[in-house]
Amino acid sequence: MERTFLMIKPDAVQRNLIGEIISRIEQKGLKIVGGKLMTVPQSLAEEHYSEHKSKPFYNNLIEFITSAPVFAMVVEAEDAVHISRHIIGKTNPSEATPGTIRGDLGLTVGRNIIHGSDSVESAKKEIALWFKPEELSDYTETRETWLYE
Ligand SMILES: Nc1ncnc2c1ncn2[C@@H]1O[C@H](COP(=O)(O)OP(=O)(O)O)[C@@H](O)[C@H]1O
Ligand SMILES: [Mg+2]
Repeated sequence: MERTFLMIKPDAVQRNLIGEIISRIEQKGLKIVGGKLMTVPQSLAEEHYSEHKSKPFYNNLIEFITSAPVFAMVVEAEDAVHISRHIIGKTNPSEATPGTIRGDLGLTVGRNIIHGSDSVESAKKEIALWFKPEELSDYTETRETWLYE
């Protein structure tokens, strides 16, 4: 089993899309092992997006992500990183395929609904950055025998 970090961004929280997005994640088969609504401290936002520090959109991105609450989550599945990036869709919602979260719910790259870790390595880093170990639950869902061979 693999875990990844997902974050419903302030635009989607403000648009009351938490339920819609979590519903898609649950229906796909991903197991939610941690989740919380939180206002992101400046330092956490900067650390999370440190790889983009030199980009022209960096300041706006930090301002946006700290502007209102986000809903942070850890989800678990076989191949969780790849599968969740796939159902999230391309970074720019104008290019994201219909049927994906960004393709169905977003319009522009600066308001693209949700974050998902892009590799197993960054998932590990991001989970440790956003969640304390005791905020994550290990448990079995009865549906698992119907999701996996
Ligand atoms: N050209 C851009 N203009 C404005 N914001 C951008 C742009 N590119 C990326 N972003 C923002 O920065 C975030 C991080 O970028 P990136 O890691 O490339 O995408 P992803 O979130 O798909 O992994 C994006 O989700 C988006 O919110
Ligand atoms: Mg990224």
